[in-house]
Amino acid sequence: MATMESLIGLVNRIQRACTVLGDHGGEGMSLWEALPSVAVVGGQSSGKSSVLESVVGRDFLPRGSGIVTRRPLVLQLHKTEAGQAEYGEFLHAPGKKFSDFADVRREISEETDRLTGKSKHISNKPIHLSIYSPNVVNLTLIDLPGMTKVATEGQPDSIVEDIDNMVRSYVEKPNCIILAISPANQDIATSDAIRLAKEVDPSGERTFGVLTKLDLMDKGTNAVDKFALAWITYVTNVFKVLEGRSYRLQHPWVGIVNRSQADINKNVDMIAARRREREYFQSSPEYGHVANKMGSEYLAKLLSKHLEAVIRQRIPSIIALINKTIDELEAELDRLGRPIGVDAGAQLYTILEMCRAFDRVFKEHLD
Ligand code: GDP
Ligand code: NA
Ligand code: MG
Repeated sequence: MATMESLIGLVNRIQRACTVLGDHGGEGMSLWEALPSVAVVGGQSSGKSSVLESVVGRDFLPRGSGIVTRRPLVLQLHKTEAGQAEYGEFLHAPGKKFSDFADVRREISEETDRLTGKSKHISNKPIHLSIYSPNVVNLTLIDLPGMTKVATEGQPDSIVEDIDNMVRSYVEKPNCIILAISPANQDIATSDAIRLAKEVDPSGERTFGVLTKLDLMDKGTNAVDKFALAWITYVTNVFKVLEGRSYRLQHPWVGIVNRSQADINKNVDMIAARRREREYFQSSPEYGHVANKMGSEYLAKLLSKHLEAVIRQRIPSIIALINKTIDELEAELDRLGRPIGVDAGAQLYTILEMCRAFDRVFKEHLD
């Protein structure tokens, strides 16, 4: 009996196959859409890319102020055997292994610019990156451009709506798990992530609330003195959220401390950042009783566990969809006439074989 870990790995491989070979869902829901993935949403500079990096445990994303993420990044994490070398591989550069994560970051920036030019505009066309590492949990994560209320930096006025539509196209899919990022140094009532999540997932069953920048609260907000009553009220509200007494979702909120821009400039590495984050929660008196349910490592485990449960629930419908795909592929191959010489036929045949293999493995997971 395979473990649940390998079940997520399996879904990862199907998603990768769908991406490489084209999604053969036929009519109705496609195979890719039927499989769960996690989309990271929130306002600009709320810390989306930082959270994603912390979950992965690697520095590899362009980060900073303003609109840095301008194309969706579909990130597939594949857990490999202990001792294996880590590397990244892009769909647009098959076969090229990036073992230096600084190069991964550069490639993401360049690939973003390749489509959007040096303009600050966005593109709906995703960048697909796979990371193979013994240190990751099996997950598919999608980094998205930050939602914004006004166009800036010479952007077209339509950008506000364009980004909103793009983000929506991901989160409205019923199989999308929403990682809704809100910075703790802004009023949660104005959070773009929570607004959108409430709209597309009113029951909150597929939304995970994440509060970033908890460390910035220590310094007080822009306008409020650290010891003023308004400040205390504000901090109390943040604790209410983290304790599930305010802005309640079905899943618990997770508080995060990512690296600040100064940390990034000083090249504070991920291991040091994670250690500091852990210390932050353990040493702060307010978090004592919830410290083990805070931080990016906890978030990664929480997401992975949730994803496993969701996949397990969906095994029967995934099998049904795979079989529908098999039937459609067989019909298409019959129409093309066998034996197949042409490329298209050969590719369909590959997908067909893969679907059959997936079908077998998934059935092993049925109790
Ligand atoms: P995104 O635009 O939502 O993807 O946000 P980024 O991850 O690029 O972060 C925007 C800026 O906020 C960067 O300069 C980060 O260093 C900073 N930042 C993000 N999270 C935190 C945090 O928890 N604490 C602090 N102090 N800074 C953070
Ligand atoms: Na940003
Ligand atoms: Mg970003």
